[in-house]
Amino acid sequence: MTVGIIGSGSMGSGIAQVAATADWKVLVYDLSKEAIENSQKKLIKILARLVEKGRISKEKSLNIQNNISYINDFEEFAPCNLIIEAIIENTEIKKKVFKKVEPLVSDDCIIASNTSSLSITSLAASLETPERFIGIHFFNPAPLMKLVEIIPAVQTKSQITEKAKSIIDAWGKLTVLAKDTPGFIVNKVARPFYSEALRIYEESIANIPTIDWAITHIGGFRMGPFTLMDFIGHDVNYIVTETVFKAFYYDGRYKPSFTQKRLVEAGFNGRKSGRGFYDYSANATAPEPHKDETKGQKIVDRIVAMLINEAADTLQYHIASKEDIDLAMTKGVNYPKGLLKWADEIGIEECVLRMDALFEEYHEERYRCSPLLRKMAKQDSTFFE
Ligand SMILES: NC(=O)c1ccc[n+]([C@@H]2O[C@H](COP(=O)([O-])OP(=O)(O)OC[C@H]3O[C@@H](n4cnc5c(N)ncnc54)[C@H](O)[C@@H]3O)[C@@H](O)[C@H]2O)c1
Repeated sequence: MTVGIIGSGSMGSGIAQVAATADWKVLVYDLSKEAIENSQKKLIKILARLVEKGRISKEKSLNIQNNISYINDFEEFAPCNLIIEAIIENTEIKKKVFKKVEPLVSDDCIIASNTSSLSITSLAASLETPERFIGIHFFNPAPLMKLVEIIPAVQTKSQITEKAKSIIDAWGKLTVLAKDTPGFIVNKVARPFYSEALRIYEESIANIPTIDWAITHIGGFRMGPFTLMDFIGHDVNYIVTETVFKAFYYDGRYKPSFTQKRLVEAGFNGRKSGRGFYDYSANATAPEPHKDETKGQKIVDRIVAMLINEAADTLQYHIASKEDIDLAMTKGVNYPKGLLKWADEIGIEECVLRMDALFEEYHEERYRCSPLLRKMAKQDSTFFE
């Protein structure tokens, strides 16, 4: 079986490694020779480290390398059973690429995009045969992150969805099915993790290290929101928020933050720029949090309530199943618990009370409680047994 990967940046390179490890033949194309060279060098380095750590044998490493070929011409994609596009996040450029590749591959070749934020349906519409098009959304770094979101377009045939899902499952990934809506599951449900933390900071309820401390030490998350935003890069994280906000017709729940926008404008994009919310220069000292447990618990309760509310909304609009929503957040962004399971533990009524208290304080749309949570509280029901 052969997969063609268009784009050999961070995502394309990672997906190529995943497919080659599963013993697929991989053909990689990139406009930039430099990107191809970097991708090759990076792969050799990663595989050498895996051999060194005893994770794979030397033979397997050679096998993975032999499975990947770098091509100079789109025509070489002809034998592919699957094409995954991972180029620049731009609808028009992606559509041009699909128009170019579609006539070169066989009729039963699935064509997919790894886009994080664009409409799969709109991309599918650029094809002569949109029914074979689907979203296959890997997370970064693709070889390490278990989760893959499978997003059928409105036009996608159900057999294509099943086939795409079974291929990615066979590559050792955990797949979840998401409706083609902005941010799919993870990038939608996770928005309040960043935006509510930013809001708490902007209102001077707590400073940055204190919010990060509360979320990790009390909330049990692996990284605090500010550390995570610095890690992802503000250029990337801010654009996702802005894209989701616009795509949801300017719903106040996804409103971006000026604080983060200013960081992007200043070029303080986080860890990779040496400065974001934190200073990453060699002689910088990490700021100390105020370890006030009561305040910390309030911060956690507020952010978790907003996350649960977003997860409930995602279920109410049938964007994904309750099982897939919880799996997506634990495997895609390493949350300590599935949010709907967490809601059951906290108590649905308590979740409603927390949302209503925020709404009472601010009278903003952003804090409206999910009607599903309200209905469940009245019925005294839970998401899971
Ligand atoms: N980086 C992430 O965290 C992440 C996670 C999930 C999905 N995505 C999505 O994956 C896609 C790629 O993201 P990335 O982070 O790997 O980007 P990247 O900038 O690292 O790589 C993109 C590559 O595409 C190449 N390219 C651009 N236009 C091309 C064209 N017309 N034909 C062939 N190659 C072309 C570039 O030379 C570059 O090497 C985007 O759609 C992005 O939204 C990114």
